[in-house]
Amino acid sequence: MHADSATPRPVPDPLDFERLLDARASCRGFLPAPVPEATLGRILRAAQRTPSWNNVQPWQVIVTQPPATGKLRAALQEPQPEEAGFEIPPPSEYRGVYLERRRACGFGLYASVGIAKGDREASARQGAENFRLFGAPHMALVTSDRLLGTYGVLDCGAYVNNFMLAATANGVATIAQAALAQRSAFLRRWFGIAEDRLIVCGISLGYADPAHPANRFRTSRAPIEDTVRWVRE
Ligand SMILES: Cc1cc2nc3c(=O)[nH]c(=O)nc-3n(C[C@H](O)[C@H](O)[C@H](O)COP(=O)(O)O)c2cc1C
Repeated sequence: MHADSATPRPVPDPLDFERLLDARASCRGFLPAPVPEATLGRILRAAQRTPSWNNVQPWQVIVTQPPATGKLRAALQEPQPEEAGFEIPPPSEYRGVYLERRRACGFGLYASVGIAKGDREASARQGAENFRLFGAPHMALVTSDRLLGTYGVLDCGAYVNNFMLAATANGVATIAQAALAQRSAFLRRWFGIAEDRLIVCGISLGYADPAHPANRFRTSRAPIEDTVRWVRE
């Protein structure tokens, strides 16, 4: 298997890919055991095959290993000074079906971890888990090139997804975290990220804690009838 080889390779069984898609779900409770570096390398090499416009490959990724991940986690618990948040504007509003899906996702998570509707304190505690990296032993911070704009970010999104699928194929659980991009100023200082990079999101990764209630929850998807318009003539 070589990325530069022009020889077509046999197409895998589509069911293999669908099983992989089904096997991936966001993990919000990790075991502390680190992932061997060889496995991390394999995931990174697989994600590196992501296509991008003009093959510019705008993603750069900072991967933390223990004890660096623990130091980062501890620093994220410190009171944060008032400073710039997201560098990519977050959604200004969720309306209609998007609001419904967002709520369904939130309520599903709250139900699985036992947070009652309207318990703001408990939901804030659950939200704060983002900054504990859900206990993960590793965090991968994905940045794009600022000059490549929205399409660069789009390429990074494809990279994030391939990274998560590659991790799943290696038995490693993940969660993409836009929440971390909210701490852009802090992350920039912490990792010494240059101004020409744009902080896209983090991915916490490690082995899933099967006993963690947050991992019992699964999201659903709208049927394709809601998202596809066929044009036949
Ligand atoms: C780009 C991106 C950013 C996300 N950011 C967060 C986040 O900050 N915190 C969180 O708990 N989940 C986050 N998620 C996870 C989504 O909530 C999750 O993917 C979605 O609800 C579908 O569930 P699934 O991943 O289990 O299939 C993010 C997902 C993506 C793709």
